Amino acid sequence: MKTFNVGVIGTGSISSMHLQSYMKHPEVNLVAVCDLNEERARQAADKYGATKVFTDYNELLADPEIDAVSICTWNNTHAEISIAALHAGKHVLVEKPLCRTVEEALRVQEAVKTSGKLLQVGFVRRYDPNAQMLRQFADQGEFGELYFAKASAIRRLGNPGGWFSDIERSGGGPLIDIGVHVIDLCWYMMGRPKPVSVSANTYKKLGNRSNVRNLSFYKAADYDAEKNTVEDMANALIRFENGASLMIDVSFTLHAKENDTSIKLYGDKGGFEVDPEVVVVSEKHDTIVNIYPQTDNKGFDFNSAFQSEVDHFIDSIKNGTTPISPVEDGVEIMKILCGIYESAEKGAEVKL
Ligand SMILES: NC(=O)c1ccc[n+]([C@@H]2O[C@H](COP(=O)([O-])OP(=O)(O)OC[C@H]3O[C@@H](n4cnc5c(N)ncnc54)[C@H](O)[C@@H]3O)[C@@H](O)[C@H]2O)c1
Repeated sequence: MKTFNVGVIGTGSISSMHLQSYMKHPEVNLVAVCDLNEERARQAADKYGATKVFTDYNELLADPEIDAVSICTWNNTHAEISIAALHAGKHVLVEKPLCRTVEEALRVQEAVKTSGKLLQVGFVRRYDPNAQMLRQFADQGEFGELYFAKASAIRRLGNPGGWFSDIERSGGGPLIDIGVHVIDLCWYMMGRPKPVSVSANTYKKLGNRSNVRNLSFYKAADYDAEKNTVEDMANALIRFENGASLMIDVSFTLHAKENDTSIKLYGDKGGFEVDPEVVVVSEKHDTIVNIYPQTDNKGFDFNSAFQSEVDHFIDSIKNGTTPISPVEDGVEIMKILCGIYESAEKGAEVKL
């Protein structure tokens, strides 16, 4: 059994999902970690058994022992570190979003081509067992043509602060951070139709509401409420070449009565919801039926989704196959996200 030596760059909040999934993989040897914050990197190394600790990712990438890396750093570094890693001969699993701009995304795509190495975008929602099951149903024609999808990722209070709310480092607010998940999942389920136009709005009305007490929320490893240069919320209508459309709304904060994550897709033979709970809608014997598939989890399961993302990464390296979330999909999603910001800025529909 070949052992793959892996390094994790960025050891903040989400890295633990990568680290624990690598640790549990029978063919992976978790060798190294790297973070700008040495203490944080050292703690991760101790907890997950990595022997090498770096504060400069270039040093980790220069280590010939390492075959592959996960990149779990701020969004502004994803393109730069991915390109450096590919050129250093490493396979890459990069957290979502792929990067901040289409131009950066195309540069990463070029590096994948020239290096011949594999890059998997961390669109973790695709790897959830329920999502894979529904995708199989769709492939087998259960829903017919999926022509409309609607998704919400509404946090009433949940601006993570720090780099997330600094547009220079994040590239944007809730759209690029959580909107990316629901847009990608709908697009993937719809069979990845070509996006042709976007009409969108973004709002900065409420600020980060760091004054609010008695309600906790996800925070960056280095939480700081001082700087907030990102939108509070965004909504968009995305049109596809095949006539299908996708409507989304997302927020870090909104005067909503509760958080709301919902993902719904509609076809001409049936429909389904992924969030908050998997349900298939169909017609049997002239009767509308709602079917609740009996699976381990009713909704999205963080642990199994990350484990299958990492398992798929290792399998793809081992078998020399293209991952189900390749760099090309990262590029397409960046076109949609950047189109949404452009449309909101112009106050008009934008052709992609
Ligand atoms: N897939 C998911 O569900 C999910 C969830 C949360 C975050 N994320 C993504 O993961 C990434 C990290 O998010 P997070 O919540 O862990 O943030 P975080 O702030 O908790 O951690 C980021 C870490 O990266 C380190 N870092 C930044 N630049 C670096 C560099 N050049 N070299 C080494 N280390 C560097 C920081 O010091 C910090 O420890 C982001 O891209 C985010 O979008 C994905």
